Amino acid sequence: MQTIRSSEITPEHIYLSRRKFMSSASKVVLGAAVMTACSRQSDSTDVSLDVHNTSVGVDELGDSWTSYESIANYNNFYEFSVNKERVATMAQDFKTSPWEIDVGGLVKNPGRYRMEDLLTKFDQEERVYRLRCVEGWSMVVPWMGFPLKRLLDEVEPTMNARYVRFETLYDPVQLPGQNDGWYSWPYVEGLRLDEASHDLTILATGIYGRTLLPQNGAPVRLVVPWKYGFKSIKSIVRIDLVDQQPVSLWMRAAPNEYGFYANVNPNVHHPRWSQDTERRIGEMGRRDTLLFNGYAEQVDSLYSNMDLQYNF
Ligand code: MTE
Repeated sequence: MQTIRSSEITPEHIYLSRRKFMSSASKVVLGAAVMTACSRQSDSTDVSLDVHNTSVGVDELGDSWTSYESIANYNNFYEFSVNKERVATMAQDFKTSPWEIDVGGLVKNPGRYRMEDLLTKFDQEERVYRLRCVEGWSMVVPWMGFPLKRLLDEVEPTMNARYVRFETLYDPVQLPGQNDGWYSWPYVEGLRLDEASHDLTILATGIYGRTLLPQNGAPVRLVVPWKYGFKSIKSIVRIDLVDQQPVSLWMRAAPNEYGFYANVNPNVHHPRWSQDTERRIGEMGRRDTLLFNGYAEQVDSLYSNMDLQYNF
């Protein structure tokens, strides 16, 4: 189990902002990690998951956080390299400041947000989430960030807005992978507006209380824990509210393999491999993959009338 205390390694701006959050945390919205933790662990005396203590080192299912070293050195970020072990080195000089995100489309108050604005305007919270890659590996990541809904509330989507479209920086000089003509750059992802507004959906700005590293999508990335990792788009520069379902980079590249929804689902297999099990980074063997990555209680109502085999 991880023993690093976030407070020992947290940059001051995030730490202070988190303290602010923690001190008002009687309302406790640390998300799924905490909501189900109370019920699960009420019959266990040796694991106490204190919602006021962010350094417990396990998620609400009792799974240990993946080590910082693994999270920082085993990455998918095709703009740098398709080799997971090379991404960190390739990304080390990536310029993440100054950074701005344009938020627009079908909104009443379009705006350009500087990174500093996002960090001060929205309290940064710790959210411990499982990340399940479509390739069949997974991690448990203690993110720092804030619910995307806070930002959406600021810009006020209009009545016609039904989806949210996200875009990564396009800069083939800094992001050499964007010279690879196989994919349609920049990386694009999308969510339905109700998915984007769900409390579990966050914009992440840190990991283990530290500022996000370039290889993890600095300075700001999406995290949607019940979906395959590829939905969690990195290094975002544009967010648009739109009325049509966005076409993501992966849907464009292989529409029969990657759908719009991409919910983690052991009953719907990738055409080329099974999704029954996964390898948790740092563990031996494989473990069963959980429906909606273990967040079914929180999110299955979003899909109640849908055929998930068809809407994969
Ligand atoms: N975002 C961009 N812009 N480019 C990418 O290649 N890879 C995705 C996702 N976000 C990717 C991306 C995939 S496939 C996964 S599994 C996660 O990022 C991996 O996140 P991590 O490297 O922080 O673990």
